[in-house]
Amino acid sequence: MKAIVVTNQAAGTAGMTLTERPEPLAAINDVIVQIHASGFVPTEMEWPSTWADRAGRDKTPSIPGHELAGVVTALGYGTTGLSVGQRVFGLADWHRDGTLAQYVAIEARNLAPLPGDVDFTVGASLPISGLTAWQGLFQHGRLQAGQTILAHGAAGAVGTMVTQLAREAGAYVIGTGRAADREKALDFGAHEFVDLANDTLKDIGGVDLVFDVIGGDVQKQSAALIKPGGTLVSVVGPVEARPADGLAIDFVVEADRAQLGEIVQRVRDGRLRTNIGDIASLDDAIGALNPTTRRRGKTVIRVLP
Ligand SMILES: NC(=O)c1ccc[n+]([C@@H]2O[C@H](COP(=O)([O-])OP(=O)(O)OC[C@H]3O[C@@H](n4cnc5c(N)ncnc54)[C@H](OP(=O)(O)O)[C@@H]3O)[C@@H](O)[C@H]2O)c1
Repeated sequence: MKAIVVTNQAAGTAGMTLTERPEPLAAINDVIVQIHASGFVPTEMEWPSTWADRAGRDKTPSIPGHELAGVVTALGYGTTGLSVGQRVFGLADWHRDGTLAQYVAIEARNLAPLPGDVDFTVGASLPISGLTAWQGLFQHGRLQAGQTILAHGAAGAVGTMVTQLAREAGAYVIGTGRAADREKALDFGAHEFVDLANDTLKDIGGVDLVFDVIGGDVQKQSAALIKPGGTLVSVVGPVEARPADGLAIDFVVEADRAQLGEIVQRVRDGRLRTNIGDIASLDDAIGALNPTTRRRGKTVIRVLP
């Protein structure tokens, strides 16, 4: 099969090549999915799981990409809950070969059915950003209606999902980002916007929840704004600052079939809009994944035209 592989951590995305790889085999509880579309997070090149297996052994050449939408073509021993020919989408295991390929072997529990009226490109854009937003807001952040949330990077892939889900849940959303992100963040539902380079973050007053996708000084300044009993949720590694009287949590997104179902239902009924930027074929993927200009939204690779 055709796949994008990476072999050299120092080279990062510049070291990507399109090559032939053996088709994967289904292990116990796996399905094989013929991938129609794949998502990709640029920071994957920094994740240890891109380069090593669970035992820390070198796994290069490895196939990156962990979001997919496609069709089940085979079932492994003991696999239940999905059938051959079914449309699916989901989040592939970090340590196994990923989804920038024509086929992937993936545990069935990491997938959810993709309704027939949802395009594969849309399906592939949702798993990481949608699940990260859902888990950060509702599992880790315990967001309640009427609370105020500071949503950093509100025009980004995760941030647009955070903004929309938080607003739907009845929260007051203060989005942040660069000056050029203001209109987009407001368009996705932020009640107000803070330009991190030119506005003063502390002018917003107290917030119940900070959803951080940036880290560093932005996180430190934000932790100081959290009201007693509030929470700082970070998806950019161990927290560097804690609220004086509240919780600080960092997490890595997990596959969850029920949550994928909630997310895709919201896309179908219009409560959730996708944030898709460039769309490229697998043959043109390397150029799309190494942009010379700033990314706008999620890059999706159409593996099967
Ligand atoms: N732990 C997890 O499970 C998990 C899951 C998903 C994502 N992540 C991480 O979360 C981060 C965001 O992911 P994403 O896919 O949402 O990325 P993205 O689409 O690039 O969104 C990030 C947004 O934040 C903005 N931003 C970043 N630094 C900024 C700064 N200093 N000032 C103002 N705006 C800034 C970016 O603007 P520019 O494009 O101009 O920089 C962009 O609009 C990444 O580091 C990713 O690895 C973690």
